[in-house]
Amino acid sequence: MIKPHGSDVLNPLFVYDVEKHHALMQEAEGLPSITLSSAAAANAVMMGAGYFNPLTGYMNAADALGSAEKLQTTSGLFFPVPILNLTHDIAAISGASRIALRDPNVEGNPVLAIQDVDAIEEITAEQMQTMTSKIFGTTDSSHPGVSAFNSQGRFAISGAIQVLNFSYFQSDFPDTFRTAVEIRNEIQEHGWEKVVAFQTRNPMHRAHEELCKMALKELDADGVVIHMLLGKLKQGDIPAPVRDAAIRKMAELYFPPNTVMITGYGFDMLYAGPREAVLHALFRQNMGATHLIVGRDHAGVGDYYGAFDAQTIFDEQVPEGALEIEIFKADHTAYSKKLKRVVMMRDAPDHSKEDFVLLSGTKVREMLGQGIAPPPEFSRPEVAKILSDYYQSLES
Ligand code: ADX
Repeated sequence: MIKPHGSDVLNPLFVYDVEKHHALMQEAEGLPSITLSSAAAANAVMMGAGYFNPLTGYMNAADALGSAEKLQTTSGLFFPVPILNLTHDIAAISGASRIALRDPNVEGNPVLAIQDVDAIEEITAEQMQTMTSKIFGTTDSSHPGVSAFNSQGRFAISGAIQVLNFSYFQSDFPDTFRTAVEIRNEIQEHGWEKVVAFQTRNPMHRAHEELCKMALKELDADGVVIHMLLGKLKQGDIPAPVRDAAIRKMAELYFPPNTVMITGYGFDMLYAGPREAVLHALFRQNMGATHLIVGRDHAGVGDYYGAFDAQTIFDEQVPEGALEIEIFKADHTAYSKKLKRVVMMRDAPDHSKEDFVLLSGTKVREMLGQGIAPPPEFSRPEVAKILSDYYQSLES
């Protein structure tokens, strides 16, 4: 099986030992604590689940800057995005060497993790700007990832963590949320060797479905792991429970049995385009996938990135051998009226734009809101029904 990133075995930071877990929960009650930003909480969940292997905790300023500027920490570990615990107010933890990290997304702010404090560093405005522009390719505060990143505060608390739960992800998505450890195990149980991962934050339309099928066929892979984001999204994106239902329906009706796993991970969307694609590849390697599909405008938002920047970054900025997972680079995919099937545009060089069924996200949302199903060439009717019910519930 493919090795995790940076170590021979996966080292999730969740405390699985029941007695140790109990003792830590008790200890946490007596520790000084802070309530995390949603991004820092998501980082803890990802580290707990083994997705950010081999990190042992939050980065310090030097490692964070290294990740942002050179995609590597000071020790030379390849990591494409800083993994930080940034906060506004450190008064409550002044002088403490061990602190409890409270969950901002669960009522009552229960303890999510315990952290050994290595350092608390104030990140300068200039350093914040450098990181922002490197990660997101822009410092524009109307970019949803930029505004979330910059709203967290400037104190970086670095050091190892022990994770005590998986926030709301396990309780809200019991059938879908998985740790990297669990996905590795399931892949092994299936006996799959070549495994394609599919990142998504959307319901899956025909193009998404066919991308998975094309990758399965072209790579002669054993299965595809649909791995959906379950964390926070920008306004207007479709909530995870609705996407989950739509994706499950599509897989049930349109995929051969035993070729697809439907799973999700607990992380807030960064909308960091190319950088996020590299992070996506890293954590799909950690969960045991050998390939990741990267298509058009992967993890993008607005017009901040070129349509295929998230593919070229792998050739231009990821050093040879930094990751073992391979990228299945997909061209713009749509239904061809001439060929009467979904194709990648590069495979239909004689086509013009008019030969494809192309609908913008805005147009689809508009149609669904009015109870009009998008054409079956764009969206499976059963998927359209779930989405249309959701949009209409918003109107009423
Ligand atoms: S993402 O933010 O999670 O990337 P989305 O769920 O829409 O958004 O996309 C999931 C994956 O499918 C990404 O790799 C994206 O590039 C790819 N993709 C989505 N639609 C298309 C399309 N029409 N053609 C090619 N690739 C696509």
